[in-house]
Amino acid sequence: MNAESSGANEERAYFLSVLSTFRSYREQSLSRIKRKETCLDNLPYHHKQWLKKYKEDLEEITKCIEKNSEFIPLVLRQAHCIFENAYSTEVPSHSEQNVGTLSEGLDKVQSVFKQLMRDWSSLGALERKQCYQPIFEEIFANYPEDKFDRSNIKVLVPGAGLGRLAFEIASRGFFCQGNEFNLFMLIVSFFVLNLCKKVDEYEIYPWIHQYCNNLKVEDQMLSVRFPDVIPTPTPDSGFSMTAGDFLEVYTHSDEWHCVATCFFIDCAPNVVQFIEKIYLILKPGGLWVNLGPLLYHYSDMKNEKSVEPSFQVVMQVIKKVGFELEKCETDLKTKYCQNPKSMLQYEYDSVFFVCRKPISIDNHETDPINGYCDIESSFSS
Ligand SMILES: C[S@@+](CC[C@H](N)C(=O)[O-])C[C@H]1O[C@@H](n2cnc3c(N)ncnc32)[C@H](O)[C@@H]1O
Repeated sequence: MNAESSGANEERAYFLSVLSTFRSYREQSLSRIKRKETCLDNLPYHHKQWLKKYKEDLEEITKCIEKNSEFIPLVLRQAHCIFENAYSTEVPSHSEQNVGTLSEGLDKVQSVFKQLMRDWSSLGALERKQCYQPIFEEIFANYPEDKFDRSNIKVLVPGAGLGRLAFEIASRGFFCQGNEFNLFMLIVSFFVLNLCKKVDEYEIYPWIHQYCNNLKVEDQMLSVRFPDVIPTPTPDSGFSMTAGDFLEVYTHSDEWHCVATCFFIDCAPNVVQFIEKIYLILKPGGLWVNLGPLLYHYSDMKNEKSVEPSFQVVMQVIKKVGFELEKCETDLKTKYCQNPKSMLQYEYDSVFFVCRKPISIDNHETDPINGYCDIESSFSS
């Protein structure tokens, strides 16, 4: 077997294991409930009496999990279509697979439900306004409709998640491509973007697995409907999603007019690689618009070689790579897949910045080592 076909086999095996994890969602989620019921059954009689309502709550939660489970076969039915080289979706039963791997993946299924809330429900509108709006406004202002044929302006959204940001940009007439490497996201975004035809067609329970910090069980059982809009981009826009690692998929220099990143740059073990790549693929004069925190995703992973520079250092790197900083704001209040009813509310004070690859590197009066802008001043702007 040559290296190429062994790589393809590995990819296929991974794809099938993701399908398997999706399929195990119901069984695994219900077995978690079973464990709670067993725990309850083993309590002293009077505790059980006092916790009667909790037992009833678990029954209601079970119904919501059943409803989430009904949605999964619909998504998987067309999952094989997400790649041109269509895979078969026949998978071995998950009892034959490594249960540890399945339960790790289960977190990913649960986070896809939350991401559906963020990207494609009315309840997610506030989060989208906080996170996506500053990005749209910047892009739309740089390429006004009366001066540009937006269908010729190429915008790339790496780490596109379920695709809403990329879809919105494409809906305004741009050629826009989302890129994503997480198969759980890719399978569900394919479903939303290609197969959802009615507003609010589906109902899901994004936080049904959050057993902590609930004032009442109804908060855990909060449901959302999706999609809040029919995801059909305007006919003349070029909208697409690509699957794969951003660092590997994009290799051509000077290709994109704009790169838009939202809650993405902290997903790299080495953020410098992302910055260099964005610089490489932008056309001279091209724009990079970023919003998000620095929740370095690999930071606590034992076997990952992660670096976690502060924003101050990230800014220095951005300038050393060659970017000109045009805008930099801090303290943007932003949420991420937040249950508005939870007693625990996470809010990021995100950074928002806009920088440009100089049109002509020769004319760029930058000291390549020290960068163009005063680093400290970018914090006060
Ligand atoms: C925190 S999520 C943000 C998703 C979306 N931009 C949003 O704001 O909702 C980051 C996304 O980037 C994806 N991602 C991380 N590293 C990536 C890489 N190297 N190539 C492509 N996608 C990546 C993750 O799978 C995840 O979906």
